[in-house]
Amino acid sequence: MRALQFSEYGPADVLHVAEVAAPHAGPGRVRIAVRASGVTPADTYLRSGRFGERLSLPHVPGIDAAGVVDEVGEGVTGVRAGDEVFGMVDLALLGGANAEFAVLTAWAPKPAALSWEQAGGAAGNVETATRALDLLGVGDGTTLLIAGAAGGVGTVAIQLAAARGAKVIGTAGPATQDFVAGLGAVPVVYGEGLGDRVGQVDAVLHCAGTVPDLVAITGSPDRVVTIADLSGEHGIRLTHTAGGPGADPQALHGLEIAAELAVQGKFTVPLAGVFPLAAAADAHRLSETGHAHGKIVLV
Ligand SMILES: NC(=O)c1ccc[n+]([C@@H]2O[C@H](COP(=O)([O-])OP(=O)(O)OC[C@H]3O[C@@H](n4cnc5c(N)ncnc54)[C@H](OP(=O)(O)O)[C@@H]3O)[C@@H](O)[C@H]2O)c1
Repeated sequence: MRALQFSEYGPADVLHVAEVAAPHAGPGRVRIAVRASGVTPADTYLRSGRFGERLSLPHVPGIDAAGVVDEVGEGVTGVRAGDEVFGMVDLALLGGANAEFAVLTAWAPKPAALSWEQAGGAAGNVETATRALDLLGVGDGTTLLIAGAAGGVGTVAIQLAAARGAKVIGTAGPATQDFVAGLGAVPVVYGEGLGDRVGQVDAVLHCAGTVPDLVAITGSPDRVVTIADLSGEHGIRLTHTAGGPGADPQALHGLEIAAELAVQGKFTVPLAGVFPLAAAADAHRLSETGHAHGKIVLV
């Protein structure tokens, strides 16, 4: 099969399309013929070596995808060959989605309301946003601040939080205010004086930007959950699923919830860019600007 891969750590140019052996669905898994798959910042960190040289090379990147089921592993019920699904690969492999075929460990039916591109980039950010919102106890009446609201996770988190009945405030750059407002958040510009512009909030989800202002806004580090600050310096809760001490279980129930919200017209996946597999280096470069608006997807 055709797959994106890299054989050495380095800049985006190390990415190339290669012919590799297709994976097969083991017990509890399904294989899909991929129609679209996501690019996340973590894919770029793994490729560059910023996360350490921990992969077995060559490596096929990508953690989420959407496509048509073509193999159903032993013990799997409720899904058949020909079904359209979106979902995630085995996290322990740290990749495998940016390919012609991918094996999923978690999935939900693809709602017709999401295009293949939107569904292909949905699962990872939905899982992450759901996990963080659950940890923060976001529900009806919560006032939630999302720092980094215009990114892949932020755009999804706005909508999932609003669907829970939260009032959402989202930080973004001056050029991205309308984009964030269109997803259901009150936009505020990040940077100096943020606390004055935001007022009082119950909880903060940190996806981008500086942390100390956010702790000051809630008055307590206990009300801030980060997905992006790995420093451990601010006393706030980091949530991740990378294994080892402190890893959280995946919030996979979010996939069905997001699919249902999409059917109701209450959830979409804004696309920052759609690139053919052969132009994946451009997709990684866009991610590396730190200013992608929505999700980056490969087809
Ligand atoms: N721990 C986990 O489980 C987990 C899971 C997924 C992602 N992550 C991490 O979480 C982070 C966010 O992921 P993502 O996919 O949402 O990234 P992304 O899509 O690359 O985020 C880009 C967004 O960040 C915004 N941004 C840049 N600087 C900002 C600032 N100073 N204040 C507020 N917003 C700012 C940009 O908005 P403007 O252009 O308007 O500035 C842009 O829309 C990444 O570091 C990623 O590695 C962690």
